[in-house]
Amino acid sequence: MYTHEDLSRLQAQSLKLQGWIRQQTFSPEMEKTLRRFSSWEVSELIFRVNQSTFRGKLAADPSLPVGEVEPDGRQRWFSLEEINALRRKLKINRKSLMPPRPAGKRAVRAAIANFKGGAGKSTVALHFAHAAALDGYRVLVVDFDPQATLSHSMGLTDVSEEHTVWGIMARDLIRETERMNTGPVGAETGAALPRRHLPASITGLGLGELRLADFIRPTSWPTIDAIPSCANAAFVEFASAQYRHLNPDWSFFAAVSRYLDQIPDDSYDLILFDCPPAIGYQSMNAVFAADVLYIPSGPGYWEYDSTTSFIGQLSEALEDLSAGFDATLPTGKVTLPKSFCDIRFLLTRFEPGNDLHRAMFDAFRKVFGDRVAANPVEMTRAVEQSGRFLSSVYEMDYREMTRETWRRARSTFDNAYQEFRDVVISAWDKVEAGE
Ligand SMILES: Nc1ncnc2c1ncn2[C@@H]1O[C@H](COP(=O)(O)OP(=O)(O)OP(=O)(O)O)[C@@H](O)[C@H]1O
Ligand SMILES: [Mg+2]
Repeated sequence: MYTHEDLSRLQAQSLKLQGWIRQQTFSPEMEKTLRRFSSWEVSELIFRVNQSTFRGKLAADPSLPVGEVEPDGRQRWFSLEEINALRRKLKINRKSLMPPRPAGKRAVRAAIANFKGGAGKSTVALHFAHAAALDGYRVLVVDFDPQATLSHSMGLTDVSEEHTVWGIMARDLIRETERMNTGPVGAETGAALPRRHLPASITGLGLGELRLADFIRPTSWPTIDAIPSCANAAFVEFASAQYRHLNPDWSFFAAVSRYLDQIPDDSYDLILFDCPPAIGYQSMNAVFAADVLYIPSGPGYWEYDSTTSFIGQLSEALEDLSAGFDATLPTGKVTLPKSFCDIRFLLTRFEPGNDLHRAMFDAFRKVFGDRVAANPVEMTRAVEQSGRFLSSVYEMDYREMTRETWRRARSTFDNAYQEFRDVVISAWDKVEAGE
């Protein structure tokens, strides 16, 4: 017979191995660090200019960063800070290398969501975050999943639940309840709302005093920040039901959206949400805050089946919100009924030589039309390999595997990212300009 003590013992053994893996993978301080990028990568893959043009530009202006030469060869290797400095200063054929970004608008928010487990959500979120950062964008990732795959792959492991989406929700409950109790609520109707009392178990956590920045952590990428998650945040799914009961007028699903509204518009260009494989309080917050919904799915029939159920359930949940909440309730800058700038399906783990996969792709296209991304993410050994090192294909040094494997993996994510980038840029047209 086995009890919780056996589970706890098994977990302790597993944590030891995890610690060892991190030690082998990250720097001696157990911190994740970002590698440098070679002049070949910077010119051809990042700036998309040929190497000799790039070298010529560097030679012509001694004030430009020159990177470092590694002992093994002729290539110069650049840090992301140096790449970004080059991007700001260089012009190729009189064209800036800065990515498009309308002034005066907030970051576009994209949720990578599907309740099918293992659909590739975290892999897509991680690779899009890295591709966008290499493209010159400033990125915030929000991990809505207590499995914390994305947080762990970004090197964030010592996270307490107060500093996760759960903390943001509980802080919002405290603040919204205070506002309702003291503010001029009901001014339009003249009727005051009943006062709501929250128990000390919630108000005593000190969450009400946390500042915006307390939830945001830097990562090893200088232009990527993260709001991480942790296993204890799974507790939110139980607690949130009770919170709604404590204050039925609290628009629980808008907590994260309200939080993000307070971040200055120009702090980030893109905010990416990695969602859990479930529809619950946390994922409803992600979906509600999102401008763009990106739905990854594997290329099999059962994945298609689950994806179909997912959009059905999501549709019902969003309809319930619109029907169940008074439209005058404050939901931050996002209003009910919730609408998205774009919704896309993205096939993942796709094998172009597999007849079944191609048939599923055609079926997706037939059913969802041009909502299906034209560039699926292909199945690649590089992801399995990089997953073992808790990193993305972009973080892996191409000298650690065959160049062909790395290039193919990188190009499948690059192509999927380019299409996503177009979706983000179009979404900016629909996002309201800030005050
Ligand atoms: N393009 C790919 N090529 C090869 N393996 C992949 C690819 N994409 C994802 N995988 C693998 O599939 C597994 C599931 O991927 P991932 O963790 O991204 O899915 P998820 O949807 O986030 O899962 P969960 O629902 O548990 O959060 C992982 O082992 C990952 O390494
Ligand atoms: Mg995941």
